[in-house]
Amino acid sequence: MKVLTIVGARPQFIKAGVVSPVLREHVDEILVHTGQHYDSLLSDIFFEQLAIPTPDYQLAVGSDHHGAQTGRMFMALEPVLLEERPDVVMVYGDTNSTLAGALTAAKLGIAVVHVEAGLRSYNRAMPEEINRIVVDHVASRLYCPTATAVGNLAQEGITEGVVLTGDVMDELVLQVNSLPHLLDTMNLTAGQYTLVTVHRQENTEDRVRLSGIVNALREISGPIIWPLHPRTRQKLYDFELWALVPEAVRRVEPMGYIEMITLERHARQVLTDSGGVQREAAALGVPVYVLRQETEWAELIESGRAVLVGTDSRRIVEAVKQHKSHPIPLVMETEPSQILVKDLIQRYS
Ligand code: UD1
Ligand code: UDP
Repeated sequence: MKVLTIVGARPQFIKAGVVSPVLREHVDEILVHTGQHYDSLLSDIFFEQLAIPTPDYQLAVGSDHHGAQTGRMFMALEPVLLEERPDVVMVYGDTNSTLAGALTAAKLGIAVVHVEAGLRSYNRAMPEEINRIVVDHVASRLYCPTATAVGNLAQEGITEGVVLTGDVMDELVLQVNSLPHLLDTMNLTAGQYTLVTVHRQENTEDRVRLSGIVNALREISGPIIWPLHPRTRQKLYDFELWALVPEAVRRVEPMGYIEMITLERHARQVLTDSGGVQREAAALGVPVYVLRQETEWAELIESGRAVLVGTDSRRIVEAVKQHKSHPIPLVMETEPSQILVKDLIQRYS
């Protein structure tokens, strides 16, 4: 049995870092990197830290507008799939690499397996929401991280091939040890700093929203650590917000995974619009404030592990002042990667 896995962006390297080793115990895996993320701090570092095998194909597609980027991915992926003729194409999450991988495979009649299926924000202005809907409707096997995701698929009439696995990102975060000395090196004290990440299109392309976040940071006592996605760095300059970021905020380069988990685990609180960071922090039992209008991770809000705060500065500051409890870290009884790989092999070998 041959599985061809397509990755391209930071969170997909991390998810493949969990699933690939389990998969490779049983089947041949071909790894394809679309090149959507290419900076070494958004790509190479995760291959090194998580010992992910070097991709068999590097498509080097790079950045562009949605249509051009996705179009280049289709053109580069098709010959690879024709050459390799895998039994299954596996895609992760909701990026343009996920969309291109799933559609290219589906058109060639190759079974598509979607890891992180069924998530919905019900906001079609998000590029990720369009990607999720399309991918779920062409996938043959849909591995869902949550019960809500299974229900979302059922509402769209998708009930066949749906498997509840749990979240592979939670699996990894609960296994990773903190990096010794990182806090000392950064001159930070556990429980006394705030960690922030922002990269979502709806927040970075909108001056009002991005300035709402910056203004909130002016009112939250420091230190505040802000690893900057290159897109956010650029937009802070373009919107002339760079100079408004207060002294207490340390703008740093994107972090490696182990560094990031260490910072999440010991933070007083995390403010983020990231899908991955919100659930990692919640799993670790760290209060997390989600800088979005809605989230596809409804369970986090319902359980009180995360608070949805949007991007209005007053609302963010008020929420941060009120909500102080540290939930108990998550305990995971079965490993999602094991459930997923076992099912995949039973179904396709
Ligand atoms: C993408 C995904 C998003 C995911 C995120 C993970 C889509 C539509 N978006 O968003 O769902 O949450 O990855 O981080 O697929 N850039 C660099 N270096 C890089 C890559 C990008 O500087 O290595 C800059 C470029 O200016 C680029 C911009 O970042 O235009 C946005 O990159 P892109 O991959 O289009 O989207 P992300 O915001 O990273
Ligand atoms: N991450 C990281 N360094 C950073 C920011 C995020 O290693 O500077 C990790 C984070 O711990 C999580 C993943 O990247 O595992 C989330 O990716 P991102 O926020 O880019 O995308 P999303 O999850 O929103 O799609």
